Amino acid sequence: MRLPLMACPMNPLSSASLLESMQWRYACKRFQSAQIIPAETLAALRELCSLAPSSYGLQPVKILDIQDPQLRSLLRKAANNKSQVTDASHFWVLCHRPVIKAADIDAWLELLQKKRGEKAADQTAYRDFLWSKMQSKNQPEQNCWAARQAYLVLGQLLAQAALLGIDACPMEGFDYDAFQQILQLDAAEWVISCAAALGYRDETDEWSGKVKVRRPVTDFFETVPRDVPG
Ligand SMILES: Cc1cc2nc3c(=O)[nH]c(=O)nc-3n(C[C@H](O)[C@H](O)[C@H](O)COP(=O)(O)O)c2cc1C
Repeated sequence: MRLPLMACPMNPLSSASLLESMQWRYACKRFQSAQIIPAETLAALRELCSLAPSSYGLQPVKILDIQDPQLRSLLRKAANNKSQVTDASHFWVLCHRPVIKAADIDAWLELLQKKRGEKAADQTAYRDFLWSKMQSKNQPEQNCWAARQAYLVLGQLLAQAALLGIDACPMEGFDYDAFQQILQLDAAEWVISCAAALGYRDETDEWSGKVKVRRPVTDFFETVPRDVPG
């Protein structure tokens, strides 16, 4: 099942406006609690997260959208009382699979059958390949590999939220065990990778006016082959 070839649509974003958006975004510390992200924008953000690439396409990630205010209060306590947890319009907790099971691979292959019309009988070699790739990693390596996929989602979420005019705060500064317990996650199934508060910056947030500080791009990138002196 092939889609017709599609030319990339005319680039609707100029480099300048992209750069402007990324300069505008920052890790928001104080949100306006009364400002809620519209449903349409949220739906787009959810879909954009699911469009993040993942290794082999396996997507060993899910996002918990914590809507219960009481739960958010408990999580805030487990996050050094950071106001982002309760005050942002939305608080998303990203989780990953600590172990990749045969069922996870089968679920992916079934999706390929459904969406691309692949036949189960033709997927045997690919199934074995994926399984052997996963089995070549020990459990901590699988955990680490899956966590990296979650961070790709986080990166995509932060950038795309900014493009939609949504502020965000990526978060790792919380008690993971307490979060895991409060959210009643079975650590054999899902492990928390990181979190993101989403909403609208409060004008009193002193961090919003700070100059963005990054290592020089010339230091961040290196061209290879390197210039050989003399
Ligand atoms: C994975 C990750 C975890 C982070 N955890 C926290 C956090 O727990 N609390 C917080 O206030 N900021 C957190 N930050 C924000 C960073 O401190 C911030 O992104 C960095 O200083 C660069 O600043 P900028 O994002 O405002 O440009 C985190 C960022 C990332 C990428």
